[in-house]
Amino acid sequence: MKKALFDNFALIYDQDMDKKDDIELYLNYAKKNQCYKILDIGCGTGRVSIPLIKQGHLIVGNDISKKMLDVFKKKIGKSDNRKKYYLFNLNALDLTFSNETFDMIIMAYDVFLHFTTLEEQIDILEKCRSWLKTSGILIIDVFRQHYKELVDYKDFYMLDYVKRYFARFKCILPNFDSQVNILNYKYQDLKKEKEIMRTNKVRWVSYSEFLLMFKLCRLNIKESFGNYDKTPCIYSQPRMIFILEKEI
Ligand SMILES: C[S@@+](CC[C@H](N)C(=O)[O-])C[C@H]1O[C@@H](n2cnc3c(N)ncnc32)[C@H](O)[C@@H]1O
Repeated sequence: MKKALFDNFALIYDQDMDKKDDIELYLNYAKKNQCYKILDIGCGTGRVSIPLIKQGHLIVGNDISKKMLDVFKKKIGKSDNRKKYYLFNLNALDLTFSNETFDMIIMAYDVFLHFTTLEEQIDILEKCRSWLKTSGILIIDVFRQHYKELVDYKDFYMLDYVKRYFARFKCILPNFDSQVNILNYKYQDLKKEKEIMRTNKVRWVSYSEFLLMFKLCRLNIKESFGNYDKTPCIYSQPRMIFILEKEI
């Protein structure tokens, strides 16, 4: 059984991420494509799902971490929005839906890389292809692994301060064969003088490997970007954002 690595981290996830720069992109595509039913794989605390629900879409959210979904439910509360979402606490690879169920499927903010073998990554792409309607779109947003980051930082280095309460440190243990990085984070609570440790695991993918995977899974790139402001998807950019459609 796969471990839910985000369980220990759920209560500070939103505070830690404090990320909003990608939301507009999802809202715009959902609106432009007149999407009704959207699957948010690895939806976490609902950071992207909740704005989509508020825009009027029906969200099917899935996450392997129960604690992340608990935060999602708490955030959305008892408003009318309750009727507009369904949540499944499962490994996404165990989800079953009929073919052609969704107008849009999203894996926001690195979720795709949490499938940590090549087989799992291909499996989830094939599943998305079958769950997506013919006219639907699949959006994948992942970080672009820069060579320098892997060779320069062998030990904990300071990333930043989170809302002035936490000093955040990161240490990457890369495996160049499997492309799986073990990410260790250390948070120093500046007020209470205590430390929180967190470990994560991601399998980074190069741009050309993505092209090969998409070809194999018969997904066509409709658009691709290097950041949320829609700069081209080139090596100097921090993200790889793919808007995909089914090859017919
Ligand atoms: C970096 S967080 C992103 C959360 C959310 N998509 C966002 O943009 O804020 C990755 C999420 O993927 C979930 N996850 C990892 N592996 C998963 C799997 N096999 N099936 C479903 N969810 C998974 C984690 O529990 C976590 O909530």
